[in-house]
This record gives sequence, structure tokens and C-alpha cells, in this order.
Amino acid sequence: MLPRWNENRLTARLGIEYPIIQGPLGGLSSQRLTAAVSNFGGLGSFGALNLTPEGIKDVIAEIRSLTSKPFAMNLWVSQEDEGARAADESAFKRSLAPLARHLAALGVSTPAYKPYAQAVRFEDQARALLDANVPVFSFIFGIPPREILDECRAKKIVTIGAATTAEEAFALEEAGVDAVAASGFEAGGHRGSFLQDAEDSLTGTFALVPQLVDVVDIPVIAAGGIADPRGVVAALALGAEAVQMGTVFLSCEESGASRLHREVLLSRNATRTGLTKSFTGRLARGIRNRLMEELNQPGVQILPYPLQRALVRNLSVAAEKAGRPDLMPLWAGQAASVAACTDVKAFLSSLVDEISPIAETIMQWNANRPQTKPLNASPVSPMRNRTAVSGSGEKTNRT
Ligand SMILES: Cc1cc2nc3c(=O)[nH]c(=O)nc-3n(C[C@H](O)[C@H](O)[C@H](O)COP(=O)(O)O)c2cc1C
Repeated sequence: MLPRWNENRLTARLGIEYPIIQGPLGGLSSQRLTAAVSNFGGLGSFGALNLTPEGIKDVIAEIRSLTSKPFAMNLWVSQEDEGARAADESAFKRSLAPLARHLAALGVSTPAYKPYAQAVRFEDQARALLDANVPVFSFIFGIPPREILDECRAKKIVTIGAATTAEEAFALEEAGVDAVAASGFEAGGHRGSFLQDAEDSLTGTFALVPQLVDVVDIPVIAAGGIADPRGVVAALALGAEAVQMGTVFLSCEESGASRLHREVLLSRNATRTGLTKSFTGRLARGIRNRLMEELNQPGVQILPYPLQRALVRNLSVAAEKAGRPDLMPLWAGQAASVAACTDVKAFLSSLVDEISPIAETIMQWNANRPQTKPLNASPVSPMRNRTAVSGSGEKTNRT
């Protein structure tokens, strides 16, 4: 008797029917999308990085009014980069310069310099999730402090961390995190690297997933470049126990992406994505457009995260109103043009229908494979002690 492909230790732990996760879409999440995926039997996630504790409480209450199924709330452990507190008015003016003519053309008055002030603390956001007893707490850009992970365990809140390297996955496992999302280079949005620079942590999903499967015992979730049944089947063959898709869900009506953003995702332009620090100060993937090309030019000065994000927002809000997608960050992964999801239920149903006949054979094959011996069984690296553990303004190792 073959194992049912959709039943494994991760789906049992999460209490979901299918090992399909809608990845958190920080800034573009919606309660409806999260609930729609969870109602189908997958795991919907909500990216709450920019919300206050009060806002998080409200979002959780709304998701709970839309679904009785498990869902994940996601936070960024580290929320500011070195230099953010020291960035002065002249740095602000240097970074504003390449945006100035676009702001003027769109009729936006020049934003004024304001010294950096932390908007929300990770610990306060996490408190809101813990007090609400969310079913799943996922995070990126580091590992939460031990007391938070201990409280999750005590409350049976399942934790999922994001890794872009084997060292990060190992550090997450050592900290007692329940599962790891292997975030391949193809993925849309930010590279959540926390032990080495994001530029040095650009392994693709095909190479990253088996590396992680070989070095950690906790379940590995494949994230990055998966958008249709072929991607899901490939991820299962690599040993992933679930997939996490983000970009494909951006195009559906329930997503928090703007109409303009969704139109570009469904167009031929979606085939060309690139990595840039220029939209927020942290490395992230989006569709190549005029804004990315201009800001990626040598010599353009980028403010540390989150200052650059706030600066570019002045332009993107106005560009969206003016119908100018060429001047907006258009987050997307490399598989943006592979598939679109215009109706969440129909998309997930056809995914499951197509996967089911082949997936059990693949799972069986994987279970019977000889144990792979990793070249470096213990990825202990000199970077290990540099884990970013807090969002409270502590110095982190990333730039
Ligand atoms: C717009 C956007 C925002 C994202 N925000 C977050 C986030 O806040 N936290 C997180 O852990 N992952 C975030 N991700 C990553 C996704 O959850 C998911 O892992 C990734 O999109 C999977 O790769 P794909 O884009 O190729 O499907 C984001 C991705 C996108 C496209």
C-alpha cells in the first residue's frame, strides 16, 4: 500500500489536508487569500511585517471569521539594518536624487528628511501572535529569541523559519524550530538571509532543497520557482515535505497586489525578473522595469533598510495612482510567467488533481532511496554565532 502523498509528519503537525502553503506576502497579503487557501485544505499565510500589534490582532480576528482551519502569521525577525539610525539628511538627499524627477512629474512634493524612528518592535508583534494563539508562526530574516520559541512550544504553536543556506537551516533546527522553508534564489520578494550576506546566499531551489533535506531532520518546505504541478512534483522528488508558493497567488483576485501589479504578472513582461536592493535596502526579486533599471545603475546610493523602503514608497504610491507600473516595485519570482491563479479554489483543485496520480509513486521512491551522505554532514560554519535574533534594533550581521 503506497502512502497517501498528502499525508506526512508536516501536514499532521500543521493540521492541513495538502502540503501546499501559500507563502506570506508581506505588504501584499490579504485576509481573504489566507483564508481561501486554508479553507481549501492548504496553509494560508499572512505577512504582517509592517503591522502594529493592534493591527495584527485585527487581522487574526478577521482571518478567524473567514476560516476555522489552521493558518500562519509571518513576521520579520530583524527589521532594520546597520546604518539606519546613523543615516543623515545628506544620505537621504543622495538617495532621493534619482527619484526626484519622477516624483516631480507625478506631481508629488519632495519628501522631507526625517530622522529614523523604529515603527514597530518584533517582540511586540510576536506578543500579539502569541496572545492570539495563532496555529502557525512563520518568520524570516533570523531566529526569534529563545523565550518566544519556548512560548510557542508551550502553546503548541507550530514554528516555520526561512533558510537560504544549509547553515541557516541547521541554526533554525538547533534553535528548536519545527520546519524550515528552503528559500531558493528564484523566489519573489526578499532574500531572507541572516547568517551571510544575501548576495552570498543565492542557491537555487533545485540545489537548496536536497542540501537541506540532507542536513536537517525537521521537515523541509520548498519555496521559490514553484507555480504549477510540475514544480510541486519536482519539489516532492527532491525530498520536500511541502511546497510554498508566493508569486502565483499574487495574480489572483483575492491577493493584496494592486490591479496594475496583477496585470503585469499576467503579461509577457513577467518573464524578466531581477534582484535589487534599491526598492527597500534589502535584496529582493521583482519584475525588471524602468525603476529597477535606473536604481540598479552604478553610483546610485541606497539607504539602509527600512529607510529606502519608505523613500521609494513615496514614488510607488503616486505611480500606482497614475497607472505607471514602470515606476513601481513589482514583486515577483522567476516562475511568474509559468502559471497564474485567477481563482484560488480552481487553481488548487487542478493542482491537486494533477499531482495526485503521480505524487504517491514519487514519495514511495523517495522513501526507499538509499540515505544520501552529505559531503559536509555538519554545516557548522564560522558564521553560526552571528545569528540575527532580534528585531529590536540590535546590531545584526547583514548590511
Ligand atoms: C510580494 C512578496 C512578499 C513576500 N513577503 C514575505 C514575507 O513577508 N515573509 C516571508 O517569509 N516570505 C515572504 N515572501 C516569500 C513567499 O512567502 C514565498 O516563500 C515565495 O514567494 C516563494 O517563491 P515564489 O515567489 O517563486 O513562489 C514574499 C514573496 C513575495 C512575492
